[in-house]
Amino acid sequence: MKDLYEKFAYDYDRFGSIDEYLGDEKSFFEKLFHEHNVHGVLDCACGTGQHLLMLSDAGFEVEGSDYSEAMLRVAEKNLRSRGKTLPLCRCDFRYLERRHTKKFDAVICLTTALPHLHTDEDLICALTSMRKRLNGGGLLVLTQGTTPYTLSLPSIETVVNRNDFSRVFVKEHDERFQTIHVLDLFHSPERNESNQYDIVYRILLDDDYRRLLTEAGFSDIRIYGDYAMSEYTKDSRRLIAVARYAKESEV
Ligand SMILES: C[S@@+](CC[C@H](N)C(=O)[O-])C[C@H]1O[C@@H](n2cnc3c(N)ncnc32)[C@H](O)[C@@H]1O
Repeated sequence: MKDLYEKFAYDYDRFGSIDEYLGDEKSFFEKLFHEHNVHGVLDCACGTGQHLLMLSDAGFEVEGSDYSEAMLRVAEKNLRSRGKTLPLCRCDFRYLERRHTKKFDAVICLTTALPHLHTDEDLICALTSMRKRLNGGGLLVLTQGTTPYTLSLPSIETVVNRNDFSRVFVKEHDERFQTIHVLDLFHSPERNESNQYDIVYRILLDDDYRRLLTEAGFSDIRIYGDYAMSEYTKDSRRLIAVARYAKESEV
């Protein structure tokens, strides 16, 4: 599998200030995790470690893994700059058991990470591997920005526009896949260059999540449309799937 973030990793966090970007996610996770008595959390696509920092600051015991060596390197640097060292390792989330022996109260896989897999076979393999890292009664949380509403938006979106840097998304999709061409434009005397990264996502909507999560052995599947836990509708800007791995005594 190719590391799509090998170069992108080092500029990935230019989306904006971390606290701004994660504000409403923090209260969502705190509420959900306190309701379900969650302590130990594995972020299995931890990227640059922003959710690890957020959840660690909120008092959860967190570990991270990711397929991309470069993203992990940036995560380690981000953690270090905030005075934290947390367990991190390189691992494909289809095969978590190869690097993780522990079980967790929650596994998270956020910001359209799962749809990097394109076949049902791989998706079920990954979801099953995530389930196997959960204690009975544990939660899996998946988030993405892809919804019928966001798919209907204009195909060119300026995501960041600052004096020295702009990030533009150029999006295209068919029935099954969405490609996001990320165009990073640096326009200052210190750095004048442009970089393009192309990420292809499988389009997974609510019914796909219900089907795949059920096949992978999850129950109590809930789909929300935002971090305030509003009901998911065709106008939602976000899709948040929360599923539970039933305790043996409940089966
Ligand atoms: C869009 S980024 C999201 C990163 C982070 N979750 C966030 O919210 O900022 C997707 C991440 O998924 C990771 N990823 C993609 N496929 C993976 C796989 N099979 N196993 C583990 N990580 C994977 C990528 O390396 C990347 O860090």
